[in-house]
Amino acid sequence: MTLTNDPTLANIPSPCFVLEERLLDRNLAIFDRVQQAAPIRIMLALKGFALFHAFPQIRTALKGASASSLWEARLAAEEFGAEVHVYSTAYREEDVPEILPLASHMTFNSIGQWEHFRSQVEGYTPHKPSVGLRINPEYSPVETALYNPCQPSTRLGISAAQLGDTLPEGIDGFLSHNLCESDSFALEKTIANIERLFGKFLPQLKWLNFGGGHLMTRKDYNIEHAIAVLNAFHDRHPHIQLLMEPGSAIVWETGFLIGKVLDLIPTDDVVNVMLDISFTAHMPDCLEMPYRPAIRGGSQPQAGKIVYRMGGSSCLAGDFLGDYSFDRDLVIGDRLIFEDMMHYTMVKTSMFNGVVHPSIGALDKDGKFKLWREFRYEDYRSKLG
Ligand SMILES: Cc1ncc(COP(=O)(O)O)c(C=O)c1O
Repeated sequence: MTLTNDPTLANIPSPCFVLEERLLDRNLAIFDRVQQAAPIRIMLALKGFALFHAFPQIRTALKGASASSLWEARLAAEEFGAEVHVYSTAYREEDVPEILPLASHMTFNSIGQWEHFRSQVEGYTPHKPSVGLRINPEYSPVETALYNPCQPSTRLGISAAQLGDTLPEGIDGFLSHNLCESDSFALEKTIANIERLFGKFLPQLKWLNFGGGHLMTRKDYNIEHAIAVLNAFHDRHPHIQLLMEPGSAIVWETGFLIGKVLDLIPTDDVVNVMLDISFTAHMPDCLEMPYRPAIRGGSQPQAGKIVYRMGGSSCLAGDFLGDYSFDRDLVIGDRLIFEDMMHYTMVKTSMFNGVVHPSIGALDKDGKFKLWREFRYEDYRSKLG
């Protein structure tokens, strides 16, 4: 039984990632609105969400995708269509000839890489991509070092000092990615820093990509403020095409991971809930960020109620998260729903320990479940040889 008693969930296998198409539409409407009110093109960052079965729906609002590797670029070109913006921290020699036919835009992380690949890129026919550099705006509101691209001695992006006084030849645009689940005021500060540090280059640019981390679909995001900030930038630099490539925000709160209670192990202070899903293998950001995901029907530990600690299915000692209480005691066989599990989950999962990999499906707009993918032993084996 599910803690929510929702009969539609009974058809869903366990474990399973489930996209809710109705909720995705709600997010896409926000991006539609922003793109109508401000001169900006918003793309999907595949690194955050690459579930290609959902691309036809996403394409109704977004006209391009951003890729961080050859494989993402291929997926973007084959399954998303439209513009493909590629940025890699360091391109592999053997990948560039394959990326060139796919990329509408190609961004380099260092001047050295641009100089190395310049003749190959510029000589590419029939259509050479528009070329950009990733800059370091030297501002990030992100406190967790793992997610702060502007930390001291960062390897991500070129600083104003490294760029010097002259824009290298052949450069059309800049990419600045410095935010993570951030608000419109962080966007405003980013823009202020870009203008302060890189202002002298802006007259020469054709485009400026504000990267990801714009959490426009979070309830408290000030959309009107973001629209005003973008319009004000456009008024100052009307020749620059503005771009953005959020990942998380596109699928923020649009689906869940459902699992099952396999065992309950009481200790002196908590009951360990042994699940058929793993935090390290299926929801790694919970451990890396770290954060405590919401469980449907669960709350912070309550006085007088059993305290449950969610245990992952791998043997990693730290593969657990807690703690939670529920309205009623859990029993073996209960199904638990971990909310908001679309971004940075499916793209990051592993088959560590050979634990069963969650299936992937969706609830359509009528609430009917459709299964897109199940995994088998052969998938595990084929990854290893
Ligand atoms: C260059 C770049 N663009 C876009 C994104 C997407 O960011 P988010 O999913 O936080 O919106 C990232 C995330 O790491 C990134 O590194």
